[in-house]
Amino acid sequence: MSVVCRPARAQDLEFADALVVSSINDLTERHGFGPMAVSSPPRFQMFSLRDDPDGLWVAEEDDRILGFAWSWVCSDMWFLAQLFVSPHHQGRSIGNELIKRTLEHAGKSGASNRVLITFSFNTVSQGLYIRHGLLPRFSIYSVGASREQLAGSLQGLQLDFTPLEEEASTLRRLAQADERVLGLSREKHHRYLINDSGTRGFNLYDRSDWVGYAYVDVGGHIGPLAVMESHAIAPAFRTALHLAAESGSSRISAFLPGTSVAVLHTAMEHGMRIKFPMLLMSSREFGNWVQYLPRNPGFM
Ligand SMILES: CC(C)(COP(=O)(O)OP(=O)(O)OC[C@H]1O[C@@H](n2cnc3c(N)ncnc32)[C@H](O)[C@@H]1OP(=O)(O)O)[C@@H](O)C(=O)NCCC(=O)NCCS
Repeated sequence: MSVVCRPARAQDLEFADALVVSSINDLTERHGFGPMAVSSPPRFQMFSLRDDPDGLWVAEEDDRILGFAWSWVCSDMWFLAQLFVSPHHQGRSIGNELIKRTLEHAGKSGASNRVLITFSFNTVSQGLYIRHGLLPRFSIYSVGASREQLAGSLQGLQLDFTPLEEEASTLRRLAQADERVLGLSREKHHRYLINDSGTRGFNLYDRSDWVGYAYVDVGGHIGPLAVMESHAIAPAFRTALHLAAESGSSRISAFLPGTSVAVLHTAMEHGMRIKFPMLLMSSREFGNWVQYLPRNPGFM
């Protein structure tokens, strides 16, 4: 029987997450990095499905899901959050078919920029994306350290912080920060994160000046984080490391753009180690990548 692509449904998302985890770990293990992904409830996928169902697709054969694609749109940016094919079915044009469907989503949305984050060691995905007009822009490093390591070495200027609340004035401020740093509003994504029970969001202040925001999750992971001025990025990252170290998680992690010298130095000074090299690809240049730390390859 041939492979059929159809819109994803809510009941597909848990299975799709398991497929994505097995595909990621197959890839990272083949390249000598060991496993990278663990299953988690598909909360952001569910949010995206309710928000814009045109962005989520499955590829199926004999009632078995063999591939999953998921994209979302904010302002004029289309973002490919996931494109994964089951390890035993790669190379059968399933990825090609799924990307066609998600690019139709990009076309319908009128987005002028197409963006994704992929593994810098995956030649297949990069070849596929280059063919569709997305070009490599810069590295993003997934870095980590143990909490003990960090707690013992946290030093340098930090910022003041207060919890983010879902208020109109706060959402306006967050949207303005994203407009300034990324060139687009992500208000709906801030609403999602502020209401996510596994994540805490913070306003960051330099004395009385609001300088940006940071999120930290229960697993000790930092991001997204954005600052209004580039000189605030290192103190903001240090503050987020401190908040993550207080979260009780035994590991602390973040995604650091290779363009942000100050955060890379801060991470190395605190003994963080590079775990996986990733790559941002886009159809055009955008954003100020010394003032923003993405959350992960699906959220950006
Ligand atoms: C990347 C992935 C989704 C592609 O799906 P797939 O079904 O295996 O790929 P397809 O068979 O549709 O096609 C892949 C294309 O890449 C091209 N390709 C493969 N190796 C390549 C290389 N070294 N350089 C350039 N292009 C290459 C192939 O030519 C093929 O296109 P063609 O068949 O038109 O010639 C899939 O391999 C996968 O899940 N990989 C692991 C996870 C991953 O990295 N996902 C992307 C996360 S952003």
